Amino acid sequence: MTNPEHAAALADIERAFGAHLPLAGARLAGKTALISGAGCAGEVLGTGAAMAILFAAQGCDITVFDIDRTRAAATAALIERFGGRAQLVIGDVRSDADCAAAVTASVDRFGALDFLINNTAVARPGGIAVVTDVDWNDTIDINLSGVMRLSRAAVEPLAAAKGAIVNIASIAGQLGFGVIAYAASKGGVIAMTRDMAVTLGARDVRVNCIAPGHIATPMGGAHDLEKRAMRRKATALETEGSAWDVAWAALFLCGPEARWITAAILNVDAGSTARTTVNALQGLP
Ligand SMILES: NC(=O)c1ccc[n+]([C@@H]2O[C@H](COP(=O)([O-])OP(=O)(O)OC[C@H]3O[C@@H](n4cnc5c(N)ncnc54)[C@H](O)[C@@H]3O)[C@@H](O)[C@H]2O)c1
Repeated sequence: MTNPEHAAALADIERAFGAHLPLAGARLAGKTALISGAGCAGEVLGTGAAMAILFAAQGCDITVFDIDRTRAAATAALIERFGGRAQLVIGDVRSDADCAAAVTASVDRFGALDFLINNTAVARPGGIAVVTDVDWNDTIDINLSGVMRLSRAAVEPLAAAKGAIVNIASIAGQLGFGVIAYAASKGGVIAMTRDMAVTLGARDVRVNCIAPGHIATPMGGAHDLEKRAMRRKATALETEGSAWDVAWAALFLCGPEARWITAAILNVDAGSTARTTVNALQGLP
């Protein structure tokens, strides 16, 4: 980054949002990404906003697709502060028309679509005894069908660009948390990643999935300090992840270093899914 004002603005963003590494680079120079659920909620960064900022700082043009205009505009404003290019598309992943509009806007404004990041999700509480039809249907519609809809809309431009999809699932798709609709949706995203990868491989589109563990984001209860201390203990590294950890993994999966990686499910969870609960309860490794 040669412009000193832009470099200073990016350094401010890194400080404000606790980035553990400098974000600037040219790994995605000349590329374009459509990131769903990339709105920024305030002082704590969600994974979509972190991916949008990191990708933009690495030279990628960003289409921020979110249902919430204020949140989407906040992410785009951060990107523009350091000289990145971002456009907003306000829409709902439950709508085929909105998904198509987001893809078209990306191609029209930036000339192509290289990467699709399916990050949108909602988390509704409740296990099998209490889950309501409304919560079940909404969660599946947004978290699972939304990934299918936006990916389907993006197939042709992604194939033209020999691009990549990264789906954001969760370790809740692999372990029981007592949130049945969310778990089913995320397990479905993991299954769908493999299915999409085998279908789209022949068209030179790679499809991978990140399953984040307990990270501090607006959805991940960043303000509950007691919960955060417990979450640290549940990991092998005894640390808590942030949205940046997911963003760096997504950058790798989109970049040329990952050209032979497709259908992978990458847990970004500090080893929490590798640890037995019995050991964790006893304070053993
Ligand atoms: N936070 C965690 O601990 C954690 C753990 C594992 C996985 N994840 C996954 O990471 C992703 C992002 O999580 P986060 O904590 O950053 O979430 P977040 O709530 O900060 O961001 C989600 C965004 O999606 C948008 N959105 C909601 N419904 C939408 C819809 N119908 N159409 C379009 N946009 C919509 C929201 O406005 C918001 O900006 C999700 O897929 C989540 O399941 C998070």
